[in-house]
Amino acid sequence: MSINKKNILLGVTGGIAAYKAPDLVRKLVALGANVRVVLTKSALEFVSPLALQAVSGHPVSDDLLDKDAEAAMGHIELAKWADILLIAPATANFLAKLTHGLADDLLSTLCLATASPIVVAPAMNQQMWHALATQHNLAVLQQRNIRFLGPAAGEQACGDVGLGRMLEPQDIANSLDEVMPQQVLQGKKVLITAGPTQEAIDPVRYISNHSSGKMGYALAKAAKAMGAEVILVSGPTNLKPPANVTTLPVTSAAQMHQQVMAQVSTCDIFIACAAVADYRPAQITQQKIKKNDQELTLTFVKNPDILSDVAHLQHPPFTLGFAAETQNIREYALSKMTRKKLNMIAANDVSDSRIGFNSEQNALTVFWPEGEVNLAIADKQQLSMQLLQLVSEQLKP
Ligand code: C5P
Repeated sequence: MSINKKNILLGVTGGIAAYKAPDLVRKLVALGANVRVVLTKSALEFVSPLALQAVSGHPVSDDLLDKDAEAAMGHIELAKWADILLIAPATANFLAKLTHGLADDLLSTLCLATASPIVVAPAMNQQMWHALATQHNLAVLQQRNIRFLGPAAGEQACGDVGLGRMLEPQDIANSLDEVMPQQVLQGKKVLITAGPTQEAIDPVRYISNHSSGKMGYALAKAAKAMGAEVILVSGPTNLKPPANVTTLPVTSAAQMHQQVMAQVSTCDIFIACAAVADYRPAQITQQKIKKNDQELTLTFVKNPDILSDVAHLQHPPFTLGFAAETQNIREYALSKMTRKKLNMIAANDVSDSRIGFNSEQNALTVFWPEGEVNLAIADKQQLSMQLLQLVSEQLKP
């Protein structure tokens, strides 16, 4: 996988190494990348926006509140456009801002607004690099899966010698290839369920489950980025359908079941991420139920288990299920994997509020018949990549 045809948003912060930014842009463009550049105010002291505009072929942005730039491509749009956000050089000050999630200028705002990998190439005086505060920030950022390229050791602009030089532009450009998602699902067709289902009680009421759909949508985007053809069967969510993914909206479990069964025969992988309602009202009343009585009794009937039905097909695809548990996670996940005849199960502890429903983050313990692995808390997009990497390793050749 290379950065050929990929969108790279280059953030340049205010260190002396910023003078190498135009050369870095040229190296990235030479590898086939589309590059857009964002500068911090202090970077403007070290490098000319005009030079960066000339080599990237795009206007350069430096202001969050620039009306013209926002009209052309707003900052959220820019954050979504990027396949990678590369910050080079990244000063000690910028690393500190990134650690604390500040959003007081365009570049720091973009860092918060992107779901794509963030890569930083630090550049600073060796003493500043070794400072406890910087090293603490480094540890926090690495834990958040932010990738560091360098710094290199050598002579510094200030005359000191040591760690803190920005890596050479060619080395940065070459290293970005490793950060790009590997195309391990090339040629595979992936079917994913996401979101909750809604089971009608009467014309105005339904029962449902907590589910934002974020994990399933993140998986769909990740599978697409890893080369797969993706079909997303989604219950009602507030999320935008992912680009270049066939999204089939459904409401009830019965509809989700029907759509999945209609699509699954051509698919290589089925990922059941939806929080499907286990039961539905036995009858949907034609008219709104009036609240005349102190009690209301409804009878429910069991919904089909979509995942189990797929796994029990004569020629099932590779099946990955989810187990949202509040206790005995390992035991419940393993028994679910056996009972439903799955190839893999990803379990999460929904009692942990950091990773619960509607959260941007998740942590998973993944089990398959021959192994298991813990995927530490991370952004759902990053976690999806790791999970799909595991799936690809378990696929039969
Ligand atoms: O049995 P339980 O609901 O805990 O299993 C969870 C897994 O099964 C999830 O992957 C979920 O998407 C899937 N499932 C399904 N159809 C159902 C119930 C659960 O596909 N009716």
